Amino acid sequence: MRELLELPDTHRIGIVPGSDTGAFEMAMWTMLGARPVTTLAWESFGEGWVTDAAKQLQLDPTVLRADYGAIPDLSQVDWSSDVLFTWNGTTSGVRVPDGEWIADDREGLSFADATSAVFAYHLPWEKIDVATFSWQKVLGGEGAHGILILGPRAVERLESFTPDRPLPKVFRLVSKGKLTEGIFRGETINTPSMLAVEDAIWALEWAKSIGGAKALQQRSDANAAALDRIVQERSWVSHLAADPACRSTTSVCLSVEGQTPTSSRPSRACSRKRAPPTTSRDIATHLPDFASGAAQLSTPQTSRRSGRGSTGPTRKCAPLDDPVLLRRQGPSPFFSRKLGSCLRRNTILQDQRMTQPKVLISDKMDPKAAAIFRERGLQVDEITGKTPEELKAIIGDYDGLAIRSSTKVTQDILDAATNLKVVGRAGIGVDNVDIRLRPHAASS
Ligand SMILES: Cc1ncc(COP(=O)(O)O)c(C=O)c1O
Repeated sequence: MRELLELPDTHRIGIVPGSDTGAFEMAMWTMLGARPVTTLAWESFGEGWVTDAAKQLQLDPTVLRADYGAIPDLSQVDWSSDVLFTWNGTTSGVRVPDGEWIADDREGLSFADATSAVFAYHLPWEKIDVATFSWQKVLGGEGAHGILILGPRAVERLESFTPDRPLPKVFRLVSKGKLTEGIFRGETINTPSMLAVEDAIWALEWAKSIGGAKALQQRSDANAAALDRIVQERSWVSHLAADPACRSTTSVCLSVEGQTPTSSRPSRACSRKRAPPTTSRDIATHLPDFASGAAQLSTPQTSRRSGRGSTGPTRKCAPLDDPVLLRRQGPSPFFSRKLGSCLRRNTILQDQRMTQPKVLISDKMDPKAAAIFRERGLQVDEITGKTPEELKAIIGDYDGLAIRSSTKVTQDILDAATNLKVVGRAGIGVDNVDIRLRPHAASS
């Protein structure tokens, strides 16, 4: 792992309990309190560390925040304090551009939550005092264990500072004032999952066999570029992170505009007002409803299982044929493969909707009728039994109307049918269509 991370000998690397969360909180609980604390947040995981620092540890941190898709002004960071940040904001698709903003002569320590960044980006280790990650992200392994990396200044802090708080066994890194070196030589604080260890070893060996760190980074970049091409080709989708320098290549978040977008920026308020979808099918059909904001899509590039990030082959990205996950704006991301494929279908559908004519079948008809339309590339909705008023409310969406005898096509309906090109009557007689009337000027 050291070799693949290109980690210098100055830094120790150890396995700790509790995945990335365990590793990061272990670092916070053992090292914070010696000096002021600054926490940076631009998505939900960074917000989690703010909560830890403020509410749990009661350290009254300085908080620098940015909304989803943006990054705070990093030049404002005060390096006399300890600084906590996520290198790659997994839930907003925003990353720090590089390590240049981290002061070489910092008095405080830099704490990087590097989950979904390691293996995909080159990390300037000399700028990082504490880094944590879990195996299940870019490496694509199983979770369970956290990785804790400590630079020399972090070790110095641990050996010189005793926090004024109780520390559970799973957080203890120091014994009799000295770092417990065993943890950084492969010993674990509690029972490890050998399944997870074996999985991680397998992933590391595979990574080495394809060319190591450089190959992993290239793979991740190629995957991001493939996704970017998809975005460039579509008018209704854009990157949530507008600034390419701060755009993640491992957790790409996309804004999908609704049918009548009023804003190109996602609106958290708008999304929250909507009832959370309960099934994958619901979520897919909710997508076009995010009209005044933007639904946010995110590809889990970081997982081997999803075939993206450093481990997945780029060909999988090209047709957008891999799970695309919806992350509801706000702190509760949805993760589901099933949901991903459902959304994928919906995004493709939505794309097609931009070009395919739409037909409404408003009277009961043999199902073959809808099948024939669909076979010929038309979109079809079968919505029968509507009152004239209800029909008027929806007819504006359609290019064609297929009826039998129940639907009355009056001037009133035609006035509302601003896109209508054709009325088709299945059967004999057009007495329910006022053929003396011309369709709406816009569609005639
Ligand atoms: C940036 C970031 N931090 C923390 C976590 C939490 O990781 P874990 O579930 O390994 O504790 C994640 C998980 O996706 C993450 O992406």
